[in-house]
Amino acid sequence: MTTVLGVDLAELRDQGYTVVDGVRTDDAAARMLGELGDLMPQYDGMLRYQVKAAPGFEGKRYSKSTNTILVHTEAPGWSPPPGYLALHCRVQATCGSGHTELADAYRFVAELPEAEREVMRGRLVDWVGHNTAGTGSAGVRKPAVELSDGGREIVRFSYNLLTAGHYDPPVDADVAPEDLPLGALGIELAQRAEEFFRTQKVSILIPQDSVLIWDNQRMLHARSSYTDTRRHLTRYWISRN
Ligand SMILES: [Fe+2]
Repeated sequence: MTTVLGVDLAELRDQGYTVVDGVRTDDAAARMLGELGDLMPQYDGMLRYQVKAAPGFEGKRYSKSTNTILVHTEAPGWSPPPGYLALHCRVQATCGSGHTELADAYRFVAELPEAEREVMRGRLVDWVGHNTAGTGSAGVRKPAVELSDGGREIVRFSYNLLTAGHYDPPVDADVAPEDLPLGALGIELAQRAEEFFRTQKVSILIPQDSVLIWDNQRMLHARSSYTDTRRHLTRYWISRN
């Protein structure tokens, strides 16, 4: 097993994600993840983001709510988006939910009918910047599947953007297809992705003091709703070295 400070690199490469146990401090997590690439400033400009339910977000599909978060990749408005995402569990939910869910977008794209695959690879989408704190990216105009200079495919996806025109919409958002980035076709692609995700996902309730790391340019992710508001994860974005 090829490991970097406990990260099984072969597993991360082959299945798109891996879990590292026994990581007990912020410093230990940052040291380990720093071996994969550079830690990146997130939406609020900070290297660490606390995923913890907070008042004021009850009606939103947002990290600081307890609601289900639908299938997406992180920071699609960045160029490139973070190479890896990591969630370090500090307090595990005991309500039986609050799983992080992952599925392989390369496989999703490969299994699409040819016409829809061409849309994913060819039709430009405005991936807005999502820079609420005035940091980060102004947004990019790219297809959902971008061929990088190195020949590797970079996937961007957001069920919310394609169906509601916004990354963190109200749970009851209802937007006319003509106001959406890919119109009715985008709604169809989002629904296909949800369907694929429902049947193919792995659901991981990250153990306390463990770090889940995944390839954010390849894997779709989502989160199940939960009720235990003690749940606390620290999120990192890591560039691909
Ligand atoms: Fe996310």
